[in-house]
Amino acid sequence: MAYLIGSDIGTSGTKTVLFDEAGRTVASSLIEYPLYQPKNGWAEQEPTDWWNAVCGTIKDVITKAGVDKNDVKGVGLSGQMHGLVMLDENDKVIRPSIIWCDQRTGEAAAELTELIGAEKLLEITANPALTGFTAAKIMWVKKNEPANFDRIKKIMLPKDYIRYMLTGEFATEVSDASGMQLMNVAERKWSDYVIDKIGLDKSQLGKMYESCEVTGKVTPAAAEKTGLAVGTIVVGGAGDQAACAVGNSIVKEGVISATIGTSGVVFAHTDKMLMDPKGRVHTLCHAVPGAWHIMGVTQGAGLSFKWFRDNFFTAEKLTAEELGENPNKIIDKIAATVPAGSNRLIYLPYLMGERTPHLDPDARGVFFGLSALHTKADMVRSVLEGVTYSLRDCLEIIRGLGVNPDFVYASGGGGSSPLWQQMMADVFGIRIALGSSKEGGALGVAILAGVGAGIYSDVVSACDALIYETKSISPVAETVETYNKAYPIYTNLYKSLKDDFKALSKL
Ligand code: XUL
Repeated sequence: MAYLIGSDIGTSGTKTVLFDEAGRTVASSLIEYPLYQPKNGWAEQEPTDWWNAVCGTIKDVITKAGVDKNDVKGVGLSGQMHGLVMLDENDKVIRPSIIWCDQRTGEAAAELTELIGAEKLLEITANPALTGFTAAKIMWVKKNEPANFDRIKKIMLPKDYIRYMLTGEFATEVSDASGMQLMNVAERKWSDYVIDKIGLDKSQLGKMYESCEVTGKVTPAAAEKTGLAVGTIVVGGAGDQAACAVGNSIVKEGVISATIGTSGVVFAHTDKMLMDPKGRVHTLCHAVPGAWHIMGVTQGAGLSFKWFRDNFFTAEKLTAEELGENPNKIIDKIAATVPAGSNRLIYLPYLMGERTPHLDPDARGVFFGLSALHTKADMVRSVLEGVTYSLRDCLEIIRGLGVNPDFVYASGGGGSSPLWQQMMADVFGIRIALGSSKEGGALGVAILAGVGAGIYSDVVSACDALIYETKSISPVAETVETYNKAYPIYTNLYKSLKDDFKALSKL
């Protein structure tokens, strides 16, 4: 039997899963690490934490599964996107990675627009200058840490740093690299023009591959640390969203998913490159060769729930842990006691600014409509609803671009909550489908590794063979109506508060 490994280098931890060639989970392992927030809106991580977690989890799954390491035919890497990793001439990490949700780059993004021109930037990179994307982070380092900028020999994304450690190959692949804003996204290659304008040299960027191509082989040093066999292939892999899409079979025109992880994403596969002229949804290369995707991103999705749980449900969390129960399930039950609409309480999930649809790093979270009758049960339900409204914002823009799905696949940690699944059906007014895989991104990149290893002929047929629908959730007409009345108030709130958010950020 052949086995494949998918490793997902996420924000809260790295999850590695070992699959058999039928896509069944054989063993999985998770190691968490910290997120550093040295200032309001900043977010950094240590690349060595990712590496240690990747080594530990790969070793763990091989040991737990008791498989012969020579039967592991390939490794796929999925990664949190947009993070900036810089190495010096001795391959030393120059500073902690500035990661995807960091919002320090508002000014740098404006400078990037000025430098290249809004239209040209959209034409080449398929996106407007975004605070979260890597190019703005590089501009920030150039201006604020010039000594660090001068030391840069290699620029990498989080999972590409892991590839470098595993194989010694300095490489990337199209789905993650298109979120750096340094690529010509239509042509699926680096943009000499943008790179030059920012003051970089192409030698500072890795070799570009399609996601299922073999990019290198595990070195003896990495084999020692991971328990993999020397020479095991490592394929391109994918940014976490494209990886998750492959793992949920979002690999054909018109198929859409909604994923609630730390961030929340509505993702659509497109055979042709589609772009929102206002840049409110991202256009990036898909991990399916020759395809693209559009996606709307809400920054604080699972993050909002986690923030509320950890600050206001500490006692419940402790009790659940003592009883060996999942605290999220207990909090879901509490939220389910409150009627749809949370007794006229509305939450805006902008804890870390917002991308879709506002592209505003200064936006912040809000509870609107609080009254003395509200309890924390109302508040937590309104958190779940606010995140779901923000996903509807993404879906509406995607629908406006002419993608009209019959149903939406739900995935991610939040997507596994039955309450949240029904809420998505009711807020979106569309059927929600659940897929057979619980492993999303890890399965997606294991499939890419299987294609690279020659176990599967191509990504689409592998997805067709391995992934199927297991459950369907229909919207409830009465609840759809309730949410249809609340949603316009939700969308108006940002318009009313926009200037105040800006003023607040200047305090
Ligand atoms: C996508 C994005 C997030 C991160 C972290 O654009 O920023 O999905 O990749 O999950």
